[in-house]
Amino acid sequence: MSFYVAGTGSALPEKVVSNDDLAQFLDTSDEWIVSRTGIRRRHVLTHESLTDLAVASAKIALEDAGAEASEIDLILCATMRADTVTPSLACAVGEAIGTSAPAFDINAACVGVLYCMEIADSFIVSGRAKTVLVISGEAMSKLVDWTDRSTCVLFGDGAGAMLLRAGEGRLAGELSTRPDTHAIRMPNIEGNSPYNRIEQEKLALQMDGGEVYKFAVNAMGRNIEEVCSMAGLTPADIDWYLPHQANVRIIDASLKKFKIDKSKVLLNIAECGNMSATSVMVLLDEYAKKGTFHCGDKLLLVAFGGGLTSGAVIIEWKKN
Ligand code: ACO
Repeated sequence: MSFYVAGTGSALPEKVVSNDDLAQFLDTSDEWIVSRTGIRRRHVLTHESLTDLAVASAKIALEDAGAEASEIDLILCATMRADTVTPSLACAVGEAIGTSAPAFDINAACVGVLYCMEIADSFIVSGRAKTVLVISGEAMSKLVDWTDRSTCVLFGDGAGAMLLRAGEGRLAGELSTRPDTHAIRMPNIEGNSPYNRIEQEKLALQMDGGEVYKFAVNAMGRNIEEVCSMAGLTPADIDWYLPHQANVRIIDASLKKFKIDKSKVLLNIAECGNMSATSVMVLLDEYAKKGTFHCGDKLLLVAFGGGLTSGAVIIEWKKN
């Protein structure tokens, strides 16, 4: 007994920023961004809070599952930056939807949703929960330096949710970390303690793009092989691949050796950019709502991110 996905939801900020919009104030171009990453547009927070989007996506997922908030035994949220350091985004969503289920945030960067799914599995397998709400919200536009063209063009904001119920939909999951505190780094605020002797680092996401690229291609390929083997499947048995949407070149390079039909690899990077943990969640909801998945389909979610974390989960789709 593990879980199955009973409902999904997502919510994106209203404001859409195109590559041409960025070229108005950065030394960049639509051609450079599309050819290097596959990104054409991204959604960016303006008047909405991340909490607004996370709450909206949670309500959509509950409605999709035909569930009430009172059924939720646990709320897990994948985020690198909730609106407040405390309370967590998970608690803020719990308050808004009206449940006092235990709630906490997980920071595993872009792999956060997969970490949440594996924690949900443990709670359900041990009998401590029957229904788990997994949410994700990322405000990447508030982490990047908008004068740094090598990072700010890559990211977008958004939120997503899935309601997991006890059942037989999780076939395998695998999480890993290759610890590295430099390749992707976002410092925290040092505060104003008169005793602190640690110098404030620049408050913006820093990234060694080349290093992350190499890690990502290797990690995603390895995670796919390992999770398929754990499930007793081959990569060819997977109906749909939902990879983290950081760069189409990374997705192509990591899947190349498996000779997968490209129509099985789902993408929304062109319209959303890299929304960190939220990417796979929004992707899942978008294609679920389009009616792409059928009952019995095998979906493989795979991601990499700051940490450096990586992971993959295979689920069988149980909805029609
Ligand atoms: N517009 C125009 N030129 C640019 C831009 C831009 N937006 N950004 C960088 N350049 C320039 C660079 O300055 C460099 O110029 P130079 O040759 O004169 O020094 C040139 O373009 C080439 O830069 P590269 O770094 O070699 O470009 P590359 O092809 O490697 O692509 C990229 C860079 C897109 C960042 C790639 O390395 C990548 O995708 N890496 C992985 C990033 C990633 O996945 N991040 C997500 C991590 S998860 C997380 O953050 C939570």
